[in-house]
Amino acid sequence: MAAVLNDYDLAARWIAEAKRAVAFTGAGISVESGIPTFRGEEGLWSRFDPRLLELGYFYDHPEASWRFIRQIFYDTLSHAKGPNDAHLLLAELERRGVLRGVITQNIDGLHQRAGSRNVVEFHGTAWRVVCTACRQKASITPELLASLPPRCQACGGLLKPDFIFFGEGIGPENYRKSEALCRDADLLLIVGTSGEVMPASMIPFEAKEARVIEINPEPTRYTEEKSDILLRAKAVAAAKTLARRLGIDLS
Ligand code: APR
Repeated sequence: MAAVLNDYDLAARWIAEAKRAVAFTGAGISVESGIPTFRGEEGLWSRFDPRLLELGYFYDHPEASWRFIRQIFYDTLSHAKGPNDAHLLLAELERRGVLRGVITQNIDGLHQRAGSRNVVEFHGTAWRVVCTACRQKASITPELLASLPPRCQACGGLLKPDFIFFGEGIGPENYRKSEALCRDADLLLIVGTSGEVMPASMIPFEAKEARVIEINPEPTRYTEEKSDILLRAKAVAAAKTLARRLGIDLS
């Protein structure tokens, strides 16, 4: 069943009526904060080889992998702007008791900076490192990135960014929390994701009872398979329009 296109009145009414909404977000929600997507003509994978983020490659070539990671993530993220109106709208909907939480595939931490409190970082975060030997976690710092590959101060083990690499399993806690949020949801907002990466892309299908509003400038697999409404727009424009209809001041 194809989604209804651009029905902002209906979308705003559904949001106003929701009591247990959940948002599922991808790289697209952070584009207007200056962080590129992975796929699409400007996407990272059109410029870099995703094999550099395979777990096996990381262990075999830690320095080369860390050099790429520093260039792609930390240089990009350190120049990114803060949360945009789409992140801010989701945080405000949580404050108003409409939204129960955000499940994000993003590792940029922008939902938390926008004020969202219940955030499931399904793919982890770029802002922490974990020791591959003693499992101790620490915040990422410029000093730590000064000499690659970074070593654990406690045991000297190889440090790894605390985000999920290709070939790495998803933490069971993230799965459990995401499925619970979706199974209980009366409204699902799918924002800025191509829905191409398993197993994250299956999470929206756990929301069996929910009405589904998708925000994306392009149709995706969800548009055909899951969404009831597609707001075919960039996240910030859609967020501004919805905020106006909901009487929410994002400034
Ligand atoms: N606003 C909203 N959506 C946008 C915008 C925008 N301004 N610009 C692009 N998009 C959409 C694209 O149309 C696309 O559907 O964002 C989506 C980005 O898709 P991907 O780059 O595949 O990002 P994502 O779905 O988050 O990828 C999932 O893949 O490489 C892994 O771990 C990585 O978490 C990532 C996962």
